[in-house]
Amino acid sequence: MISEDIQAVCGELKKAGVDFEDKKVLITGGAGFLGSWISQAVVEQGALVTCIDNLSSGQESNIEELKDRENFTFIQHDISKPIYLEGDYDLVMHLASRASPFEFDKFPIQILKANTLGIWVALGIAKKHKARFLYTSTSEIYGDPDPKYIPTPESYNGNVNPVGPRSCYDESKRAGEAFVKAYELQHGMDTRIVRIFNTYGPKMRAGDVYGRVVPRFIEQALNGKPITVFGDGTQTRSFTYVRDQVEGILRLAWVEEAMGEVVNIGSNVETKVIELAKIIIQLTNSESEIVFHPLPKDDPRRRCPDITKAKNLLNWRPQVSLEEGLRKTIEWFEAGQ
Ligand SMILES: NC(=O)c1ccc[n+]([C@@H]2O[C@H](COP(=O)([O-])OP(=O)(O)OC[C@H]3O[C@@H](n4cnc5c(N)ncnc54)[C@H](O)[C@@H]3O)[C@@H](O)[C@H]2O)c1
Repeated sequence: MISEDIQAVCGELKKAGVDFEDKKVLITGGAGFLGSWISQAVVEQGALVTCIDNLSSGQESNIEELKDRENFTFIQHDISKPIYLEGDYDLVMHLASRASPFEFDKFPIQILKANTLGIWVALGIAKKHKARFLYTSTSEIYGDPDPKYIPTPESYNGNVNPVGPRSCYDESKRAGEAFVKAYELQHGMDTRIVRIFNTYGPKMRAGDVYGRVVPRFIEQALNGKPITVFGDGTQTRSFTYVRDQVEGILRLAWVEEAMGEVVNIGSNVETKVIELAKIIIQLTNSESEIVFHPLPKDDPRRRCPDITKAKNLLNWRPQVSLEEGLRKTIEWFEAGQ
């Protein structure tokens, strides 16, 4: 099922003239959910990929098949510490960072380091190799947006609590963006920033610490456990299937006109969390009940990207419906992979 999606991504990219064949690509966080999908897509296209990951929230099983490929190298390393790399790189993609809200209060310092010291190391590598640089930022940099900025354009500067429970993530991602802009300004580097909206799909990690909302609800539904909704569930998110996200990110990494740009990539369909719970219950034929837990502090009320820029600049738009993406994800979880 994953290879089907990878073939679909590669097919779309080929049609758009995006081709990483023979490109030397460094991916930090490449053993994580998104990093392993991106690695697989560019390995499939014939890129020479080096993946750096400390396996904190990522898993070796995500890159098991890639490790046998000649054009894939794995280095276990914490990117917030310096590393010397031989050879030339054309593209450095910095994804390394824990990203689940449950990790925010358990590993805040690691998160801050990955998006400040880590991006500093990754930018240094890109500078040395004269490589293009892509940073995976997040919709979280918008904080809790003023409703008049829904859907949220890239020009919105955000409403973030700098000392709240999510600040290790939100503020370090904002600092990461500032690092990217500083290297662009001072060293004339070719950089791109993607602001990713909630992305889900096969290879996502479930469990108490790593489980973001989609894998958590699926795991609960499949095991007949109560579905835990925070607040009254009327808060919204924009759920993007991984295949669409990977295609958007790789278009952004490729397109010449995207140099120096910041681009939202995400579904423009706003879904209430309670609706997500109900769809998952229905798709899994589960008898789970929905239970309500207190809304965590600073949980954003609404999330929905304005994707006009991605459409115009990258000719990208999401193609997989929530129901279709959830079916595939549920199938993957059911298969117990
Ligand atoms: N999935 C989403 O919905 C989403 C949304 C917004 C932004 N993002 C961003 O995309 C990136 C990838 O997210 P993901 O969903 O794949 O999460 P993930 O946790 O599955 O992947 C992150 C990877 O980074 C690695 N890592 C963390 N700290 C590291 C360090 N110091 N050195 C080396 N490796 C390190 C982890 O082991 C893991 O493999 C993250 O930067 C995240 O903030 C993801």
